[in-house]
Amino acid sequence: MELINQFVIPGILFLLTLLFGFWLSRAGIPYNGLLFNIHKLIALACVVLLGIQVSKTLLAPDGLLIALLTVSALCVTALFASGALMSTGKLKYSLMLTIHRIAPAVLVIGLGLVVLLLNRSP
Ligand code: HEM
Repeated sequence: MELINQFVIPGILFLLTLLFGFWLSRAGIPYNGLLFNIHKLIALACVVLLGIQVSKTLLAPDGLLIALLTVSALCVTALFASGALMSTGKLKYSLMLTIHRIAPAVLVIGLGLVVLLLNRSP
């Protein structure tokens, strides 16, 4: 339970990232600069806090945990890269948007499993 509590703030930041993401998307192109920066900075804060919390609780990672963390790290990289590329208009926009829509879902599943695995009794 205590472990779950440690992930409440990153979880709230993740929900805010999604909220501002949908808002930014609905506001259309050219992107609203304020919404874009809020979305990006909350995402960054969320990832940094998540990294800190996971590293604090990761005492003896097994193969499955490492695999899930690798997938999650790839999703975060894909989100930051696709987000930046959409904003600069480089590469195919529809492909970047598809990546930016799939990666959060995979990330939720991956990190959800990480938190569950970290929370299991020894
Ligand atoms: C944890 C990281 C992130 C998550 C979970 C996330 C999630 C989302 C979501 C759910 C949307 C709405 C997509 C839709 O309308 O279906 C969105 C939109 C957007 N995000 Fe992110 N995002 C993240 C990080 C970033 C970063 C770092 C950037 C910029 C560098 C970025 C740039 C954008 C842009 C430009 C849009 C608008 C896309 C459009 O044209 O509809 N995102 N994001």
